[in-house]
Amino acid sequence: MQSPPNPEKLEINSLEIMTLKDVQQNNGQDGKKIFVAIKNIVFDVSDSDSYKSDGPYGVFAGHDISISLGKMNISEEFLDQYGIVTESEDEIANINSWFSYFYQRYPVIGRIDDKKQN
Ligand code: HEM
Repeated sequence: MQSPPNPEKLEINSLEIMTLKDVQQNNGQDGKKIFVAIKNIVFDVSDSDSYKSDGPYGVFAGHDISISLGKMNISEEFLDQYGIVTESEDEIANINSWFSYFYQRYPVIGRIDDKKQN
C-alpha cells in the first residue's frame, strides 16, 4: 500500500539541484514546463490550468511564490523574494500549509540552491 505524501519525509538530498533561473525559465512559454518554487522546493505544476498564462495564477508560473503565499497576495513584487524578505510567524504558517497543499498535488522535481555551479 502506498503511504500518503509526507513533507517531513521529503528526501532533500536526493533532489536535483536547480537555480532560481532554472525555475524562471520554465514558465510555460514556448512549450516549456511550468515550475513554481516554495521554500526552495520546486514543483512541476504543468498539469494544472491555474498557472497557464490565461489561468487565475498565471503570474506565478516560473517563480518562487513563497512570500506571495505567505501574504496571500498575487502582486508581482512578492515573487522570488524567499530568503530576501523576512516572514512573520503568520506568514510562515501560511507558507507551510500551502507547501503541504502543493506537496499533495504536484510532483517535486528539484530544489533551488543558487550556489550551484555549472
Ligand atoms: C477573490 C479572491 C480569490 C478567490 C475567489 C480564489 C479562489 C480560488 C479557488 C476557487 C481555488 C481552488 C481552485 C481549484 O480547486 O482548482 C483557488 C486556489 C488557489 N488560490 Fe485562490 N482565490 C482568491 C485569491 C487568491 C490569492 C490572493 C492568492 C495569492 C496567493 C491565491 C492563491 C491560490 C493558490 C496558490 C491556489 C491553488 C491553485 C492550485 O490548485 O494549484 N488565491 N483559489
